[in-house]
Amino acid sequence: MPTENRMENIVALAKRRGFVFQSSEIYGGLNGFWDYGPLGVELKRNVRQAWWADMITEHDEISTPAGAPCSFDMVGVETSIIMHPQVWKVSGHYDLFADKLVDCRETKARFRADHLTCYSVVVPSTTGEAPTRIGYVAAVGTTDDFAEQLGKSFLKRMQTAFARDKAEVQIGDQQPFLALPVPERATVWNPEAKAVGTLTDPRDFNLMFETFTGALQSDENKAFLRPETAQGMFVNFKNVCDSSRVKLPFGVAQIGKSFRNEITPRNFTFRSREFEQMEMEFFCHPSQSLQWYQYWRDRRYNWYMQLGIAKENLILREHAQEELAHYSVGTADLEYAFPFLEAGQYGELEGVAHRGDFDLRSHSEGKLCKENGQLVVEKGPDGKAKYQGSGKDLSYFDDQTRERFVPHVIEPAAGCDRATLAFLCEAYHEDQAPDDKGEMQTRLVLKLHPKLAPVKVAVFPLIKKDGMPEKAAAIYREFKQAGIAVAYDQQAAIGRRYRRMDEIGTPFCVTVDGDTLTADTVTVRDRDTLKQDRVSVKELVDHVRSRLRG
Ligand code: GAP
Repeated sequence: MPTENRMENIVALAKRRGFVFQSSEIYGGLNGFWDYGPLGVELKRNVRQAWWADMITEHDEISTPAGAPCSFDMVGVETSIIMHPQVWKVSGHYDLFADKLVDCRETKARFRADHLTCYSVVVPSTTGEAPTRIGYVAAVGTTDDFAEQLGKSFLKRMQTAFARDKAEVQIGDQQPFLALPVPERATVWNPEAKAVGTLTDPRDFNLMFETFTGALQSDENKAFLRPETAQGMFVNFKNVCDSSRVKLPFGVAQIGKSFRNEITPRNFTFRSREFEQMEMEFFCHPSQSLQWYQYWRDRRYNWYMQLGIAKENLILREHAQEELAHYSVGTADLEYAFPFLEAGQYGELEGVAHRGDFDLRSHSEGKLCKENGQLVVEKGPDGKAKYQGSGKDLSYFDDQTRERFVPHVIEPAAGCDRATLAFLCEAYHEDQAPDDKGEMQTRLVLKLHPKLAPVKVAVFPLIKKDGMPEKAAAIYREFKQAGIAVAYDQQAAIGRRYRRMDEIGTPFCVTVDGDTLTADTVTVRDRDTLKQDRVSVKELVDHVRSRLRG
């Protein structure tokens, strides 16, 4: 199936079966905001739960996990969305959390500058000399997308605008927009606009949403919706150490909403303005930080694969030096081959960052910056710290070694919505399966990992008489009492009911038939293999539970 259809089909299924709706849809929607429907909320809750179980509830703090330098503690927190504004000044978000924005004065379109590429508009030479460049054309996307846009009518408009008969776009000579020399910006063409030179110079656009606390909308009351959950862990470092008696190394995990006023929200829930993060700050001794960085990178990579992401669709990409965030000593992204991307391209699922001691020192001493490769307190014009820290001692005292130091931090920062989207995309399959008459039909099936499936088992009476609905209802209630997410369906032919469950990823369907009433057995149909086993009703719940565990 072509990639673009695949994504369209996934979005259509998500809406049709109640996974994801556009926010405020009856009013035309709000760009960058999404609502999860009855099945979506369960799927996302299962993703969240799988992460929390891996990090906290199932974590064994007395043995050393494979690949780790030693055993470690893990605890959770839930911190507020609106924090003291100084947090964001000291963290660097107030000054640095910005994207470069370019506006088109004519079409009012808005672009992220790093999404634009400029191509030269040239007049080819008839004498074999190099072509003369007469301007630039800015386009969103890749060279291939742009070549597609280059229809005849566009070339004609461009030739008229540049008043040249033979103008062409030189795809081979592309340059990033920001690298353009200033005088040549005036001739930059937006293919969507009629006039030339309608694009503005790139300007900084801070992604933090602003709000006010209290009744007065004054500067003193200005606050921000958090753009990441991480700062909640840093500012509570001392509270956690003092209250839970954790010993280094240890991790503090949190799941919660974050907000970014993205310039161009796009690709379904992938880039939203309100989204959920699953972040963990792992505090360790500086001498062990590189080992822990590698440990968490590998462990997070494996987490996605254990939950069903195929190896060929997942990559671990180490950032180049110039890509690193202001605080980061090293970062690796876990990236997934989302179907809205070109073949061979990947979108970020999670960043695993080595943040060094930037955050704890900044919140203690004042915002740090890099000078000659060293992190030093950034000075304002008066020579004092540009942004004051809390002044609190955020170092750690190791009572075994009698050493005091500021811990280093390794941060696996995942997006819950992106992970949910990746699991949904990975699960989406169209295959062939027999219908009620035994004829092969195309079947739409979500091959979700049983841990993630919103409904784990469905119970059907084969027909709506002979005591079958009563028996099926009793089985349904047994699953409910066992805490296994169960659905009951007695409408339509059995094949249709199987299809409805396949489409939402239900791993098992239990059918009550004539034999149930005489032999007290049911059939258990497997979503992926389509194989049906006869199982005694007495053993049914345990049977399904053990197959769900895998
Ligand atoms: N504390 C570090 C941090 O926030 P990040 O790479 O900016 O790092 C972490 O964000 C994860 O949050 C990303 O890998 C992504 O999964 C998710 N995320 C970031 N921006 C997002 C957006 N606009 N929409 C959906 N998810 C987003």
